[in-house]
Amino acid sequence: DMAEMSAVAPTIQEGAFTTPLPLMKTVAEGASLKAGTQTHAIVPGKPASALGYNDSMMGPTFRVERGVPVTIPFTNSLTEETNIHWHGLVVPANMDGHPDQLVKAGQSFAYSFTLDQPAAMAWYHPHPHMQTGKQVYMGLAGLFIVDSPEERALKLPSGEFELPLVIQDKRLSAAGAPVYNPTMPEIMVGYMGDTIVVNGVNAPFHPVATRTYRLRLLNGSNGRIYNLALSNGDAFHVIGSDGGLLPAPERVSSLLLAPGERVDLLVDFSKAALNSEVFLQSSAFSGVGSQGSQTFKLVKFMVNRSEADPFKMPASFPALTTLSPASTAKTRKFAIGDAMHGAGGHSNKKSMAGMHTINGKTYDAARIDESVALNSTEIWEFDNSMGDEPHPMHLHGTLFQVVGRSGGRDSLMAHEKGWKDTVLVMPKETVRVIVRFQRSGKFVFHCHNLEHEDDGMMLNYEVK
Ligand code: C2O
Ligand code: CU
Repeated sequence: DMAEMSAVAPTIQEGAFTTPLPLMKTVAEGASLKAGTQTHAIVPGKPASALGYNDSMMGPTFRVERGVPVTIPFTNSLTEETNIHWHGLVVPANMDGHPDQLVKAGQSFAYSFTLDQPAAMAWYHPHPHMQTGKQVYMGLAGLFIVDSPEERALKLPSGEFELPLVIQDKRLSAAGAPVYNPTMPEIMVGYMGDTIVVNGVNAPFHPVATRTYRLRLLNGSNGRIYNLALSNGDAFHVIGSDGGLLPAPERVSSLLLAPGERVDLLVDFSKAALNSEVFLQSSAFSGVGSQGSQTFKLVKFMVNRSEADPFKMPASFPALTTLSPASTAKTRKFAIGDAMHGAGGHSNKKSMAGMHTINGKTYDAARIDESVALNSTEIWEFDNSMGDEPHPMHLHGTLFQVVGRSGGRDSLMAHEKGWKDTVLVMPKETVRVIVRFQRSGKFVFHCHNLEHEDDGMMLNYEVK
């Protein structure tokens, strides 16, 4: 019921915005990753235990040129199985971090692939079934940026004027460590925290000049959706989404970002007064029973120096190769089931509850749910008309385009007009995507609310 639902989306406690924004270390193809336990201060002055890659809670940011072979030796120094899924990278099935492909505690595995996709900001995180929510929440996540000459030609803000931001929410122990222990109602809505964490720290600030900045955002939260806006009400440009640049910039004053989604923004501080403060915030929104009731701040930008802004919006962006619905072989329909109206479930004894289903089924590692022909183009339709909760649906192994939405908000959001790998399906909505299957093998698709995913809202599909 509603009272129970709102109790599980805790009120955000804003911090002081006195901690400098950390910027993740940038590494190239060939850099290695090690998952292990770290000491990390989410709240300044409170170093505590978390998980992380290499030497920090947020893993290093890979920056790799399209077409260059990538090898990433990975070591699991956790006390349990894990693996790495390259979310948004179209890699061979045996490198994708499918829940079957686990790396045992103390073991190593070298991931290798060559990327042939547009420049974009993807990310990486663990994917062991029923442990994904916990491992990501405890700190295992990192960014992966694909660059290309085509994108560089646009002369977008770069260097210190390009800021990758990972937005998460956590619940912390008194000692300052992330705590993961979802109750049944929290599995229903997703495990949400009361402390916002950006690039691994609560309430950071960052000094900026009077110029245009490129903010590249990932919602790396387990369940929380953000309605991104600037505290001064200014509009900003959306130039890219999960899978790369949009065909044209879109000017908006707010934008919903669901777990797993990324968005590429241009924010113009050139007219901001010197010594003013502008916050990136999440504005209250409606349409989702359990969240959106609060406006809260994420990160503070302090405009501390005056500089001429050399940035000019490119006259044109690279054309988007539009997948055509007319060429589709098939439409597949997926009914999303959450507990209240779910079409059964409960068959998967190993799941925490099995209340989250797709076409009435919970995840079964041994079952192939959909068989798809290699190089075919299909419409996949996610039907949440019976659902009470939002579900960001994510496909491995490919990118897609959103072709339509009905039943709720009837139009596409600004960042849905380019290549995507995750799409937000609100309660009552049906969303259709068009997808081309270019990699053979077995992949999963699932809800990226990680509690829903771990509860079984995930199926296998095989391309051959
Ligand atoms: Cu980011 Cu299958 O997930
Ligand atoms: Cu879901």
